[in-house]
Amino acid sequence: MKYSYLALGAAVFAGHAAAFPALAEEYAKLATRIASGGKRQAASPGFNAAAQRIDVSGTHAFVPPGSGDQRGPCPGLNALANHNYLPHNGVGTIQQFIQATNRVYGMGLDLATFLATFGAVMAGDLVSWSIGGPPGSSAIPGGVLGQPQGISGSHNKYETDGSPTRGDLYQYGNNFLVQLPQFEEMYNLQAGVPNDQSNYDLPLLTEFRSSRFEQSIDNNPYFFYGPFSGVGVQPAAYTFIFRFMGNKSAERPEGQLTKEVLKSFFAISGTEGNFTYTAGHERIPENWYKRAPGDEYTIPFYQSDLNAAALRHPKFLIPGGNTGETNTYTPVDIANLTGGVYNAQNLLQGNNLACFAFQAGAQATPDILKGPVNAAQAAAARARANALLAPLLDRLGCPRLQDIDESQFEKYPGYENCPDGCSRY
Ligand code: HEM
Ligand SMILES: *[C@@H]1O[C@H](CO)[C@@H](O)[C@H](O)[C@H]1NC(C)=O
Ligand SMILES: *[C@@H]1O[C@H](CO)[C@@H](O)[C@H](O)[C@H]1NC(C)=O
Ligand SMILES: *[C@@H]1O[C@H](CO)[C@@H](O)[C@H](O)[C@H]1NC(C)=O
Repeated sequence: MKYSYLALGAAVFAGHAAAFPALAEEYAKLATRIASGGKRQAASPGFNAAAQRIDVSGTHAFVPPGSGDQRGPCPGLNALANHNYLPHNGVGTIQQFIQATNRVYGMGLDLATFLATFGAVMAGDLVSWSIGGPPGSSAIPGGVLGQPQGISGSHNKYETDGSPTRGDLYQYGNNFLVQLPQFEEMYNLQAGVPNDQSNYDLPLLTEFRSSRFEQSIDNNPYFFYGPFSGVGVQPAAYTFIFRFMGNKSAERPEGQLTKEVLKSFFAISGTEGNFTYTAGHERIPENWYKRAPGDEYTIPFYQSDLNAAALRHPKFLIPGGNTGETNTYTPVDIANLTGGVYNAQNLLQGNNLACFAFQAGAQATPDILKGPVNAAQAAAARARANALLAPLLDRLGCPRLQDIDESQFEKYPGYENCPDGCSRY
């Protein structure tokens, strides 16, 4: 039976329209600094060296992954595991992901809760999940439910085409390794700029995202840009680079992301023109400072960045894909997809975009509900998944959606071959 979350969403909606004004206010506050490319106009996030310096010594010294340790498409999480801020084996509980991303990067607890929970539901066992492939054992006693695939196996469900450095699954046969030409294209956005003056800021990364988008259209006949993995998650793969990896300081409280820091977080060594990528060796630099306390990167902050990028490149807003040949990119009709609730015009209003992405994303089948499950186990797992997702949707206060018409995706083989997560076609 198809896992469905929409009915639940409609049920919880009624009490939460009140969430809108607060969000609208937060957006307004953020608007000015987003418009200026991330520089604050008024209040500075401040800088507190002691609170922001990240320890990479002792128990948090860099230790590369050994055999059996999971590493995957997310450089931020790989680095956390390499420094023992997450379990070194690369499998953590929802709470461990929330704490580690908040403590080391200053991710807002709202965003961390959202991302970590979605991982556990879609690619984990509802308790924990792997930052790479299938973990060795399951926290669910009995282990008879579907085997969790980790985020490496979550293609179209969490992991997406058109990523910054990781290749498209169909083109490279994996979605978790850095493709050096892609890294070099990003690196070269600061060609000729000395390291200490270099800065991979949001405007640069937004143009890089647009370029990568076009490359997938040009080279991947199976390119698919889904409502959640694409519209909702792909922006994070770009904004997180500056927002989280940038080194904060008194002079640059918003952060400065230099060439050397970028290389460290992407497991790249060597010199320009002669780079070496060592898979899984993502590293937090020495003397590196995270976001200031009180300046966490929250869901409204993220959504403002996402909207700003979409305003520059409206193609980012609409899911779509190639239809089996390169250069056949066709956007989906959002009104058809959502029974008229959303359309290209209202998508940028309020938090419609987040609602749309999340409501569509929640339609995918959790790994744990795939495979041989008996009815009672399936019902229990589904109830637990709903209990985990409900508070997330709850917080967004979304418009009522009756249905998402997934037949609208039939024209995209990149989706049809992999509607619910896969690690190969
Ligand atoms: C619990 C929190 C997090 C979750 C669940 C998560 C999950 C993911 C997933 C599923 C992808 C693949 C998306 C794609 O295909 O492009 C990804 C990519 C990425 N993540 Fe994370 N992530 C988290 C935190 C972070 C943090 C804190 C950072 C930054 C320090 C980060 C930086 C990135 C980047 C830069 C990519 C794109 C990699 C590339 O293709 O070059 N993530 N993450
Ligand atoms: C390129 O890098 C490798 C490994 O880091 C090194 O052995 C080699 O000498 C370098 N070549 C050049 C031309 O710099
Ligand atoms: C971060 O910025 C501080 C202050 O400018 C500097 O001392 C430190 O070396 C920088 N860290 C990295 C990793 O570049
Ligand atoms: C979308 O909806 C319009 C209006 O109802 C209809 O004419 C059109 O055929 C639909 N397109 C698809 C692909 O379902």
